[in-house]
Amino acid sequence: MNQPNPSHPTVPAAEARLQVQLGGRSYDIAIGAGLLGDVSAILRLAAGSRIVVVSNTLVSPLYGDDLAQRLSKAGADVVRIDLPDGEVHKDWHTLNIIFDALLARACDRKTLLVALGGGVIGDMVGFAAATYQRGVPFIQVPTTLLAQVDSSVGGKTAINHPLGKNMIGAFYQPRMVMIDTNTLATLPAREYRSGMAEIIKYGVALDAEFFDWIEANLNLLNQRDPSVLATAIRRSCEIKAAVVAADEYETNGGRALLNFGHTFGHAIETALGYGVWLHGEAVGCGMAMATRFSLALGQIDAATGNRIIAMIERAGLPVKMPPIGSEVMLDHMSRDKKNEDGVIRLILLDALGKSRVDGGIDRRAIRNFLATNQ
Ligand code: NAD
Ligand code: GLY
Repeated sequence: MNQPNPSHPTVPAAEARLQVQLGGRSYDIAIGAGLLGDVSAILRLAAGSRIVVVSNTLVSPLYGDDLAQRLSKAGADVVRIDLPDGEVHKDWHTLNIIFDALLARACDRKTLLVALGGGVIGDMVGFAAATYQRGVPFIQVPTTLLAQVDSSVGGKTAINHPLGKNMIGAFYQPRMVMIDTNTLATLPAREYRSGMAEIIKYGVALDAEFFDWIEANLNLLNQRDPSVLATAIRRSCEIKAAVVAADEYETNGGRALLNFGHTFGHAIETALGYGVWLHGEAVGCGMAMATRFSLALGQIDAATGNRIIAMIERAGLPVKMPPIGSEVMLDHMSRDKKNEDGVIRLILLDALGKSRVDGGIDRRAIRNFLATNQ
């Protein structure tokens, strides 16, 4: 824990400061209530005077106005870009709005981009930063639970394609992740539940002790108890930071485990149409499906499977596949980014907290499984 910064008596210093260790590209994750009240950390990372705050039409009036004002007051030349809101806008057209604005204002390579919003904003601004003039620095300021525990950390940036989720993108790390937990106060309940899916993912796929902790604290988490929530955010970021440090580009099988539930989940999101089910809802259902598949293959016992599915349900997330049809699901799963040589690779469980990439499952077995999960 850091000591409060005496020069900003009303603004608490970060309650936790973690680091994503990537050599010269290492960066901090600062977590605390009210961090947005102090813009000095953002200013320190700006090489020039131009700072571009990219948000959306919903989040901008909530947090963008204040942030821009503080930055301007501190002497920054602030440009604001407010994108349309929603997963359905995570596309080329919206990405171009960022490029158009950057070019119209003659933004140079020292321009610092600030992604203020949920995972959609973070992923799109990260991709814009990766590609604008071949790369400009950016900071993640995540304002949804999902973005605070997952998408803001690790440098996966992307937009969707009509045929597949996050299919066009780049690995590009932010210079800092600034998590102001106070922003969760305005987050709608459905979005909050969506974020719970990614917290549960870490426990199920990677850390049985964390799973036990979530299980014991789930009622408090559902009530957004500040102290329990802060612990969940910190532990999620710790796990993600460690996984990313060990396998930044998802090449050695480590980072792929963070995709537990996502092969089914991404297929559901794409098949239903982006935004119909929230990302976390699709992942929740995908995790239940991956759990049932692991159970059907005899890799986990029924008691473990029941505990996992009960947790997903208690968090208010769906566990039953929507009526999509197994062939459509299989078609979307055939384009998953983890696939190799046309083989679908699923993340399955060997035990609670222990997952692995399995590329040895016959397509017919997957088809049969999907057919029995309608
Ligand atoms: P989102 O960005 O669409 O945000 C959800 C909704 O909440 C939006 O309407 C948003 O405007 C609103 N919102 C944001 N902050 C708010 C606040 N503080 N108060 C009130 N409303 C607020 O969705 P998300 O769940 O944050 O992110 C989902 C996206 O993240 C998906 O596109 C998914 O693919 C991506 N993702 C990326 C990674 C990664 O590693 N890059 C990991 C997981 C998910
Ligand atoms: N959310 C999956 C990853 O970052 O790898």
